[in-house]
Amino acid sequence: MFTIIENVLTQQEVAEFLDQMQKSVWIEGAKTAGNLAKNVKQNLQLDDENKITKTLSQRLEQRLMQSPDFISKALPNVFYPPKFNLYQDGGFYGAHVDSAVLTHPYNGKSIRADLSATLFLNQPDSYQGGELQIDTGMGVQEIKLKAGDMILYSSGALHQVLPVTAGQRIASFMWIQSLIKNDYQRTLLNQLDESIQGLRQHFGVQSQDTELLQLSELYHNLLRLWSET
Ligand code: NI
Repeated sequence: MFTIIENVLTQQEVAEFLDQMQKSVWIEGAKTAGNLAKNVKQNLQLDDENKITKTLSQRLEQRLMQSPDFISKALPNVFYPPKFNLYQDGGFYGAHVDSAVLTHPYNGKSIRADLSATLFLNQPDSYQGGELQIDTGMGVQEIKLKAGDMILYSSGALHQVLPVTAGQRIASFMWIQSLIKNDYQRTLLNQLDESIQGLRQHFGVQSQDTELLQLSELYHNLLRLWSET
């Protein structure tokens, strides 16, 4: 499963993020990779311990929690705080699968990674290469989005970042434990929610239409039945 969420950040917010990121500290990405991933990871990451990084990370998480599209598609329960990376000079991240269970850096609790996300922070025409290649199980997709847009995909999917041969690719990435572990169930809920929102536009937001209320009841009862917290 993969889906794109447009305009998570406005162009002005993107510029502010890039400006702040320059004031933080970059470290070698391989230092933070697991043993298996170490040899295939060649990039820089913002130091998570830095105060500026923490502030940006929190700000992005808050922004996502204000996005109805993100909420509907991800049904987020717990975030692994967003991190930031930079690829340049042929830097890449070879094929890998993200860890299934992560430890939250602040509270030490386990997080099951259901969804992985990459938010692009600079324009695709400012660098060459750097596509996020995802094996969706139904063919390989190459993703390179405009600044401020985000791709959300199953953490279980094999993926890689192709070498950046010119310019810099700057992005944020994160993991999400969803209320709904199963991709198919989560997708069904998103489809139902989008249909309800469409009907609500059609009938008027305050509509008390019986069928619309029944669909809304169905959505919430399925969410109640399937969700894990
Ligand atoms: Ni990954």
